[in-house]
Amino acid sequence: MKELNHIAIILDGNGRWAKKRGLPRKMGHIQGAKNVEKTCRLCHKKGIKYLTIYAFSTENWKRPEDEVNAIMGLFDSYLDSCIRTSKKDNMRVRLLGDRNGLIQLLPKIERLEAISKDNTGLNLQICINYGSRNEIVRGIQQIAGRVAAGELRPDEISETTISDSLDTAGIPDPDLMIRTSGEQRLSNYLLWQLAYTEFYFTPVAWPDFNEKELDLAIDTYYHRDRRFGGVKEE
Ligand code: IPE
Ligand code: IPE
Ligand code: MG
Repeated sequence: MKELNHIAIILDGNGRWAKKRGLPRKMGHIQGAKNVEKTCRLCHKKGIKYLTIYAFSTENWKRPEDEVNAIMGLFDSYLDSCIRTSKKDNMRVRLLGDRNGLIQLLPKIERLEAISKDNTGLNLQICINYGSRNEIVRGIQQIAGRVAAGELRPDEISETTISDSLDTAGIPDPDLMIRTSGEQRLSNYLLWQLAYTEFYFTPVAWPDFNEKELDLAIDTYYHRDRRFGGVKEE
C-alpha cells in the first residue's frame, strides 16, 4: 500500500457557501474555521502525519477590508484556542508564509510554534499571507545572500538547497492535494512542493467537506498509480 503522509488542502468556497444560504461571507469563514479544527482531528485519527492548509494568500489582501479584518480576527481566535489546547492536542503547528506582512498575528504565531515544537501528533502547517512565488523569491534571496558572502558556490546549489530555503524546509512534499469548491487551479500554492503530488478536486464547498468527503479523496488517492517518471510495476 502506498504511503499517505502529507495532505495539502486549498480550502475554498467559504464565500459561496455563505452566499447560497443568504448569509454574509464572514459566516462562511467562521464555518470554514470550525471545519479546520474537525479536519485536523480526522487526519490525526486516520494516521496522516502532515496537514497543510491554505488559509490566506498573498493575493487575498485585495478583498474588501471588512472581509480581510474578519478573516484576521478568526486567525487570532484560532491561534488563541491552539495555544490553550496545545498540550492536549499534541499538534505541532507551523506557519508558512511571509511573516513580514503579519505583524499583528506574529507574536501569537511564534508563541504557538515555540510551545508546540516538541509535540508528536499531527504536524499542521497553516499558510497565511502565503504565495508560492513569494516563498520562492524569499528563498532565492537567502541563497543569493550566502553566495554573496562566499559561503556557497553557484554550482553547489542543488534541489536540496532550494527545498531547504523554502518555508517547508524539513517537511516532506505533499502526497495528496485537495481543492474544494470546484476550481481547478493552484492559485499560487506550493508550486515547487507539488511537483509529483496527486491532485483531487471536488465541487463540495470547504464548510461541507466532512469525513465522508475526506475518505472519498483518500480512497481516490489509493487508486492512483504514482510513477514519478518511472514505469509501472506489473
Ligand atoms: C476560501 O474561501 C477562504 C479564503 C480564501 C480566505 P473563499 O473566501 O475564497 O470562498 P469563495 O471562493 O469566494 O466561495
Ligand atoms: C486560494 O483561494 C487561496 C486560499 C484558499 C487561501 P482563492 O479563492 O483566493 O483563489 P482564486 O482567486 O479563486 O484563484
Ligand atoms: Mg475562493
